[in-house]
Amino acid sequence: MSFPKGFLWGGAVAANQFEGAWNVDGKGESVPDHCTNGSHTVPKRITKLIEKDKYLYPSHEAIDFYHHYKEDIAMFAEMGFKTFRFSIAWTRIFPTGMEEEPNEAGLKFYEDVIDELNRYGIEPLITISHYDLPYALVEKYNGWYGRELIDLFMKLVKVIFERYKGKVKYWLTFNEINAGTLALGAALSLGTIKDYDGAFTSIPDEPQIRFQALHHQLLASALTVKYAHDNYPEYKIGNMITFLAAYPLTCNPDDMLLTQQHMQMMNWYCSDIQVRGEIPFYAHRYFKDNGIEIKMEEGDLDILRNGKIDFYTFSYYMSVCETADKNAEGIEGNLVGGAKNPYLKASDWGWQIDPKGLRWVLNEVYGRYGIPCMVVENGLGAYDKLEDGTVHDQYRVDYLRQHIEQMHEAIKDGVDLIGYTPWGCIDLVSASTGEMAKRYGFIFVDKYDDGTGTLERLRKDSFWWYKKVIASNGEDLSD
Ligand code: BG6
Repeated sequence: MSFPKGFLWGGAVAANQFEGAWNVDGKGESVPDHCTNGSHTVPKRITKLIEKDKYLYPSHEAIDFYHHYKEDIAMFAEMGFKTFRFSIAWTRIFPTGMEEEPNEAGLKFYEDVIDELNRYGIEPLITISHYDLPYALVEKYNGWYGRELIDLFMKLVKVIFERYKGKVKYWLTFNEINAGTLALGAALSLGTIKDYDGAFTSIPDEPQIRFQALHHQLLASALTVKYAHDNYPEYKIGNMITFLAAYPLTCNPDDMLLTQQHMQMMNWYCSDIQVRGEIPFYAHRYFKDNGIEIKMEEGDLDILRNGKIDFYTFSYYMSVCETADKNAEGIEGNLVGGAKNPYLKASDWGWQIDPKGLRWVLNEVYGRYGIPCMVVENGLGAYDKLEDGTVHDQYRVDYLRQHIEQMHEAIKDGVDLIGYTPWGCIDLVSASTGEMAKRYGFIFVDKYDDGTGTLERLRKDSFWWYKKVIASNGEDLSD
């Protein structure tokens, strides 16, 4: 059994990490536009005011896809992409999120991008919201803590669903919606950072506010699904989860229980609601133990019940171990770390590389839900060295090959896997650190952490390798 015919090979990006043009053609300020650059060791900052004389804000220019989209899409087509995952910057369509009428220039930009993709036969896969909230909504409502955001978001959804009908089939509601179960989610996805000015990683955690805000996002996600099903039956709507795979460090039953609790609240809570339409049983005890009380309005449970997604998507970069042993060695990770796994090696940013974990996760997800799955982010953030106009990134090829091999195993296991879009298919700004030095792309972009660079695009070794992988539908993974 090989990769199915029509398998959606492609790549993934997010508006705020690659578009640039942050204040062009009527675009408003988003939360990422208020984030400075940082590094692996120095956290980026969120500033209440944009202080250009003091800080560098990497989203402002990023890699300027806004003015390079034709060139970039031509390169994706050259690699043979079948799909391209990108997101809509809410602030291009509604600059503060609160206008009555959408900004035509913003709508037109995405229409041009979609038309260009379709011209090459590349299926657009659109994330409606990828860590990208109008900053004005932070100031006015404390982000998603305000229930008003549901209606404001639905206004965006209705406008883009109507405008792009006939041109798009696959939509994802919120990127990594389960980030909201973590402290970091306040800044990344929920925008519950009113008046905050300081390091990205030091925001005081308020679980009560976070989970209330997450409830509003889950309602907005369900309403989006229902709206699409009622009005645009041709649309397929997916969720998007950051799957942080966890194993017990030892067979100590305490480690096992901690792992189960991590899996429940971190990995399953949001998708159980989005796929099954019910708040899962284990959440009630978690909320009680943590003093969280979610305020519901009449009809909320029906909204969740009526908004079940069509396919399940997730990001997968790494795995961690869980343990009750306080002295166990720790490691970093995507959004959260955990205990070090003695069998795995880590990337330069300390993320443990675990290809077999991807097969395990795919089996877990498909076994639980039985609906089509897509891996919409995966990849190796690495320091690349430019040599004679290219990058010899064998390390990236090795990482991707091992993960594709395990996806193939999962397909043989019987998992209905329909697509794969490695992260940052073209170099872009890192979400966690705000740096350019952490590169994921098949395409190198001449842009550096100090904001300099010509923005020239260059094909890395992995570009040619991935082209061959796609052309052979995943059969030829050789160097
Ligand atoms: C995911 C996000 O968590 O990981 C992306 O959806 C992000 O936005 C990606 O860029 C990789 O993380 P980082 O921190 O290396 O950019």
